[in-house]
Amino acid sequence: MARFGKFGRLCFLLLLFRLVELEDNGGWGLDSSLSDEGDCNVDVRDVNSITYTEFIHNYAYTKPVILRGVTDNTKFRFLCSKASLLSEYRDKIVRLSTANTHSYRKVDVQFEEFVKFLLTPQSEDTLGSDTLYFFGDNNFTEWHSLFGEYKAPPYGLPHTSPAYSFGIAGAGTGVPFHWHGPGYSEVIYGRKRWFLYPPDQSPEFHPNHTTLSWVKHSYPNLEIHNKPLECTIRPGEVLYFPDRWWHATLNLDVSVFISTFLG
Ligand SMILES: *[C@@H]1O[C@H](CO)[C@@H](O)[C@H](O)[C@H]1NC(C)=O
Ligand SMILES: *[C@@H]1O[C@H](CO)[C@@H](O)[C@H](O)[C@H]1NC(C)=O
Repeated sequence: MARFGKFGRLCFLLLLFRLVELEDNGGWGLDSSLSDEGDCNVDVRDVNSITYTEFIHNYAYTKPVILRGVTDNTKFRFLCSKASLLSEYRDKIVRLSTANTHSYRKVDVQFEEFVKFLLTPQSEDTLGSDTLYFFGDNNFTEWHSLFGEYKAPPYGLPHTSPAYSFGIAGAGTGVPFHWHGPGYSEVIYGRKRWFLYPPDQSPEFHPNHTTLSWVKHSYPNLEIHNKPLECTIRPGEVLYFPDRWWHATLNLDVSVFISTFLG
């Protein structure tokens, strides 16, 4: 009887851990075959260890940085759980784009359909032009109550104003190398790996091939001086990328993320 009680308690604890774990990923799933994360050679700064002046001086126009613990987005994270987003936006139409460098194709689907059928793990040989990706093209009228809860990173750039792009993407997906203006990217759930090059160092890549295929086939052959800056960001971390820096992303898990473009 006593042993059964101990066993029962153990089962209960294991179940509880599993639930807490599921809760941590917002119900978006934990299984990922992409565990090999590699190095992090981007500066990572705890928000208490950096000042705005230092941010402007050392990073804003110079190089990427990952800021840790900048804002408390607990409530936003809660609202971005799978159950919460489905209950609120199930029937809404979202606009998907193909995940290639130039985003050729746009497709409108119901949010529920995207979550149930299109948020599948990406295989290595899928072309970027065949991967539908939910990022940007957000309807700020319909999603206003969600975005209203997001607390953007506190460091702005002079003469710019922030614009949000929200997205959800399957494990193994990612956008191949491209560049644009400066901004931040924060993951709300899941891990997202980043590869970055300065504006004057164009990476070699095929615009229709995915980041996953670049990571498996091109990356290993890069000479040491051609290696990118790279790092994986997790919930609670925000990556800042300066103007015109090349970057490619790889979602190691299903990831829910939001970018703040400073234009
Ligand atoms: C955004 O949603 C509103 C309200 O449902 C709708 O009237 C509008 O056409 C949508 N905008 C776009 C660009 O889809
Ligand atoms: C990439 O795919 C698009 C759409 O399928 C196609 O129009 C374009 O020619 C392709 N680009 C290259 C460089 O293969």
